[in-house]
Amino acid sequence: MGNEGRMLMFLLLAATDTAFSGKWTATVVRNIDALVSSCVVLPCSFSHPKEQLPTSRLRGIWHRLSQQDQRFFHLDRTKILEGFQDRTQLLGQLGQGNCSLEITQVKDSDNGPFCFRLELARTEDDKDTPDKFSFKEDCVTLNMLSEPPKPTLTHRTTAIQGHPYIVSCSVSHTCPTHVPTVTWSMGTSRDVMTIHKEVHAGFWEVQSILTIIPKSTDDHAEVTCTALFYGQKTSSNMFTLFVKRKESHHHIIVPTVVGVGTTVIFGGVCMLMLKKYKRRIAELQYQDRIRSESSEPPRANQSRPREEHVALNHLSSSSKAGAGARFCKPFLPSPRR
Ligand SMILES: *[C@@H]1O[C@H](CO)[C@@H](O)[C@H](O)[C@H]1NC(C)=O
Repeated sequence: MGNEGRMLMFLLLAATDTAFSGKWTATVVRNIDALVSSCVVLPCSFSHPKEQLPTSRLRGIWHRLSQQDQRFFHLDRTKILEGFQDRTQLLGQLGQGNCSLEITQVKDSDNGPFCFRLELARTEDDKDTPDKFSFKEDCVTLNMLSEPPKPTLTHRTTAIQGHPYIVSCSVSHTCPTHVPTVTWSMGTSRDVMTIHKEVHAGFWEVQSILTIIPKSTDDHAEVTCTALFYGQKTSSNMFTLFVKRKESHHHIIVPTVVGVGTTVIFGGVCMLMLKKYKRRIAELQYQDRIRSESSEPPRANQSRPREEHVALNHLSSSSKAGAGARFCKPFLPSPRR
């Protein structure tokens, strides 16, 4: 390899070296919702050519896109736009590449764009590298919301009396440093579970899960979920609870059981009585037959002549003894004794 070749190789190496270490990059969410009077967090992370520098050697600034000297945030409070003093702060550590900005008491005019600028403290040996950079390609614009978003309710249409019933209420926001609080018109804090999660970069969701054991008196009750945002704005959503009665079959089952039971007992008693009387009647008839047989000689066919005899007897006695004796006659011993 000649001198020219060595020279080319050196240049190539030098070029790759700068390409890998000399990068100013910032990652932001370019459009984010901001609720007026509340707060918003602009997520931001960055990298710079020096790669590893402590927070003390870094200065983070947020400024207007058009005028760099109009600052939304600066460590020196006097260098901040008057309307933004005490309303902005950097979250996280610049040393960890975190440039997230929190804005509180959001105003209708706070739409931006907000641009991050990084300044590195100078040292003797790095005079050649640029030590300041404004990430004007990655600025943040706020989408102002005058009213908070309405919570979303998720639940089954009907509850069953005495069975756990779960209702979920979710509300979105963009201020993870001051999360909205969700309250319910029913149940206590012990019946509630809260989940906080980032849905996508910069957009968060609070989910409140209420579990109740509905009573029959809760039928047609209005269940309201209210979200209280930082800055006192509220939004709510409601639904009417329908409780299906658990003992709804009792008013059919109980009278049926009672009715059937009574019938069975009554029927049983009747049968017993009937059986007893039948036996008694049979006994009496048997006694009567014994008596009549003892007074008459046995015949081949007993029943027909006996009937004739009774009929004759009946005719003869009706004239003598009257109606009262009629029923007793067949049971009495024959007068032809
Ligand atoms: C930046 O710092 C904030 C506040 O501590 C934190 O919530 C966030 O997750 C950090 N971001 C990154 C990318 O680490």
